[in-house]
Amino acid sequence: MCGIVGYIGHGSAAPVLLEGLRRLEYRGYDSAGIALVQRRRLKVHKAAGRVEELRRRVGDDAPGSVGIAHTRWATHGEVTDANAHPHTDTSGRFAVVHNGIVENSDQLRAKLIADGVQLVSDTDTEALVHLIAARAEETDTLEAAVRAVLSSVEGTYGLVVLDSKRPDELVVARNGSPIVLGVGEGETFVASDVAALVRHTQQVVYLEDGEIATVRADAFRTSGRAQTVELSEEDYELGDAEDFMRKEMAEQPEAVRRALRGRLDPRFATAHLGGIRLDPRELRNVRRVKFLGCGSAYYAGQVGANLVEELARIPADAEPASEFRYRSPVIDSDTLYVAISQSGETLDTLAAVQELNRKGGRVIGAVNVVGSAVARECGSGVFLHAGPEVSVASTKAFTNMTVSFAMLALLLGRVRDLSAAGGARLVEGLRALPDQIQAVLDTDAEVAEVARRYAKAEHMFFIGRVRGWPVAREGAQKLKEISYLHAEAYQAAELKHGPLALIDRDMPSVVIVPNDELLTKNISTIEQIKARGGPVIAVTNATLPPGLVDAELRIPSNSPELDPILLTIPTQLFAYHLASALGRDIDKPRNLAKSVTVE
Ligand code: G6P
Repeated sequence: MCGIVGYIGHGSAAPVLLEGLRRLEYRGYDSAGIALVQRRRLKVHKAAGRVEELRRRVGDDAPGSVGIAHTRWATHGEVTDANAHPHTDTSGRFAVVHNGIVENSDQLRAKLIADGVQLVSDTDTEALVHLIAARAEETDTLEAAVRAVLSSVEGTYGLVVLDSKRPDELVVARNGSPIVLGVGEGETFVASDVAALVRHTQQVVYLEDGEIATVRADAFRTSGRAQTVELSEEDYELGDAEDFMRKEMAEQPEAVRRALRGRLDPRFATAHLGGIRLDPRELRNVRRVKFLGCGSAYYAGQVGANLVEELARIPADAEPASEFRYRSPVIDSDTLYVAISQSGETLDTLAAVQELNRKGGRVIGAVNVVGSAVARECGSGVFLHAGPEVSVASTKAFTNMTVSFAMLALLLGRVRDLSAAGGARLVEGLRALPDQIQAVLDTDAEVAEVARRYAKAEHMFFIGRVRGWPVAREGAQKLKEISYLHAEAYQAAELKHGPLALIDRDMPSVVIVPNDELLTKNISTIEQIKARGGPVIAVTNATLPPGLVDAELRIPSNSPELDPILLTIPTQLFAYHLASALGRDIDKPRNLAKSVTVE
């Protein structure tokens, strides 16, 4: 959702800001805007719709070497030019871009209106800029004015403030919504996401929550130090791929290799996860594991919970972070909580972690984006090392989540009753995954053919049991997200308790059939579907009775505990090809955002 870019330096601000916005498009947005200082006056352009439209309005050679820009995802007020950021005060001297939500904006806006200020938008952010403008009359510095105003603001923000009478500085502030500074030579970049910076610099500084700073072209003071991000522009480029989802699916073998690198210990048949900062004694004292996340991250957590129960024999489950945060959860000191998030920005997941920290729960992160809010709030955890994920539909990050949980489960198992031989089997299995994932990706053409055959369906079931159940849920999620087909996941045995009534020849079922001890049960579920005329697509590594199913999407066999990681891959390809057959915008599905930073 919303994205921020800022620039101050010797160069021309407009191209940097517009290019930065383009880099942030993947997060999801519905309008965009920019404010530049030209001859000590603000020049503001806004456009509901695409960044490209904004670029047309601004022009490529707009002067000004300081500016701020924004992509907005509507929360307060409709998608209009007036509601797009930057917002300005009445005199047109100050401009503000803001990510997050001002919770007491109704009071702030009412007070401004009572004071005779004319508000021109429906947004919470506009209140901030009027308040800052009023305060700046009384303070020596812009930073002091911003500080004073923010002390009366409830909510979350990543904020950049520009005063056209002080074109040699920007004021930035962070509370819950990320702000990162990029250090250049005589120029400084500001963004809400490193994606907008890596073209210019690899040296970045993350603002801490609660921090406010003045940024100049050649100086700024923050509590954090500059660090190098190992990302470059190419990581965000499509290259030869048609779209990011395809590129990111193809990157999975390499992403898994990165996730495993240096973390497997064949000698003791276990895993090293230094980042979780738990010694063997602490690991032994964990009596329960609870995974928390949203969307695909939640389903990955369910795969993780199965792995922990199987390998470590301690109770484990997964819950949507949004449910957890609102139901006043009982926090147990013997439970290890795992907060899962690709972006590290999902507000519900962040809030769940904050609730845990407030109540003294022990929480680690499983996060892809280094320096993100969830990673910071957790303080310890497993980085996913999937590389930047741009497509809204998560693929390589999901896979690396499950691989990371397999390592966590192995580690928890090996400090308990999992034998060295059992551990060695899993270490081998994990090592085999990248090549096996590649083998599944190589079946692309066959999966595409099957997907095309079912592209006319209006509804589809995804059926799984035990190990296959989270795979079915994630498979249905992928299909819904990018094809807009109605896909519903169901536990295999539950089918006969209701949904079987829906089965007919127009209702295909994708059945997840691992080659495990429940194979015969899954075969009888398939028979029940077939007996009612329902087409069945099996995702499997088992040998099924000839003629039983209408199509098979096959995977190689690993250890049964790790097979769910492989079983997910054909469901990604299936969703992808079905959505392509329907001509969908794969990387930017309607109504969805990559990072959901609102409630
Ligand atoms: C959004 C995306 C989903 C994603 C979820 C969690 O809803 O559309 O694809 O699974 O957020 O995102 P996170 O960044 O926390 O993993």
